[in-house]
Amino acid sequence: MPSERDSVLHSWCVPADWNAPTVVGGRGAKLSLEDGRELLDMSSLVECSNLGHQHPRLVAAIQKQAGELSFVTAAWGAAPRKALAERLLELSGFEGGLVFFTLGGADANENAVRIARQASGKGHGLVITRDRSYHGASYMDMALSGDSRTAHQVDANAWGVRHVPPPYSYRCPFGSQSPHDCGLKGAAAVADCIEMEGAGRVAAVLMEPNAGSNGIVAPDSFWPALRDATQERDVLLIADEVMSAFGRCGEWFAWQRHGEQGRPDIMTLAKGLTGAAVPLGAVVMSAAIARRIEHEMFYSGLTYCGHPLSCAAGLAALDAYRDEKLIERSRTLGARLFGELQELHSRHPVIGEVRGGHGLFAVLELVADPVTRAPLSPWPQQSEPQRAMLRAALDAGVSFGSRGNLLIVAPPLVIEESDLATAISLLDRLLGRFFPAPGMEKKP
Ligand SMILES: Cc1ncc(COP(=O)(O)O)c(C=O)c1O
Repeated sequence: MPSERDSVLHSWCVPADWNAPTVVGGRGAKLSLEDGRELLDMSSLVECSNLGHQHPRLVAAIQKQAGELSFVTAAWGAAPRKALAERLLELSGFEGGLVFFTLGGADANENAVRIARQASGKGHGLVITRDRSYHGASYMDMALSGDSRTAHQVDANAWGVRHVPPPYSYRCPFGSQSPHDCGLKGAAAVADCIEMEGAGRVAAVLMEPNAGSNGIVAPDSFWPALRDATQERDVLLIADEVMSAFGRCGEWFAWQRHGEQGRPDIMTLAKGLTGAAVPLGAVVMSAAIARRIEHEMFYSGLTYCGHPLSCAAGLAALDAYRDEKLIERSRTLGARLFGELQELHSRHPVIGEVRGGHGLFAVLELVADPVTRAPLSPWPQQSEPQRAMLRAALDAGVSFGSRGNLLIVAPPLVIEESDLATAISLLDRLLGRFFPAPGMEKKP
């Protein structure tokens, strides 16, 4: 039988090497495969299926909306769009603000930058982002991202983007010995960059508040200090919450862990907004920004922005998070998961660091030597033993997320506790098999 590889160019893969599972259905944290097997999804696919697969409420809401009104142009009104915007503004405390709907995370970030440039009155003002960040795969987002995999494809300077070092406390680029200090220095680096460029030329800073999609988790000190640094210099702060929102980091929106002190001017959403059942992104902006742009033409939007089917799914998703208490569940299970992963860390020298702890999101950085912290493979490559371990996990029915020398553990927030336990004990066994501690290697 011909493979899907023969007809589809899949994203983020080498076409000739494509060999991924084919999924035919799902329930909760489990996916059903074409070959009849079940796969426990420990990464919410790409950290997006926060509500699990085929959540009945989402399916019903999409079906109902399809029966009433499938599509209306983004420039006209639609009841589910209005209702979803109002709910997002209320949930985030951005009352009086506005929501611009997009198709996903990349165009949410692009539009957030456009809105910030327009609202700040700084024309083509610069945007500051972090090295080793990911904000999407359009050309502008590749410029915004500090991503060595795609940096050569785009001239970030030409897009008015400046990158600063990240608060990566395990390998702190500022030489700090503590995560707290590394976070403060990360924020200070942004302040320095604004000063160097001139605050009048910088329209916005765009960063993730906590969980980093490229595996860096910002220390708690980072975001409030960044907020102060931007506010003091009259530079808008955009929180990329595409991955970190909707319970992933234990809050509706990750910045909320810092209370009002963490409030950005704009935040971008996607992924968990509909539990990934249908594509949708959003730019949520403060009342102050809304007032600055409300009498000017906003030259942006794609045909399917704010699609009624997606907005109906978004409303059902918000209801499910609330009624099933999934934000609280993520916080509780996330704390337990973090403890269990730290216990693995104490026994498996290949784990250099476990990051996370706020919600069901954790990163394990794998190292060749825990003393020197030499990475198991140079970023963003992946070593053969790590690939073999991930394949063995798949064969055992569990799919873990992975980028470079990182393992990402980010299951749907609805995962059964027994499934979480099964996945962690499998990981324990596989780490022991593929990366035995010195003295524990199998004799030939
Ligand atoms: C932090 C972050 N921003 C933006 C994006 C891009 O979102 P999308 O793939 O929906 O365009 C992603 C996707 O992984 C992400 O993790």
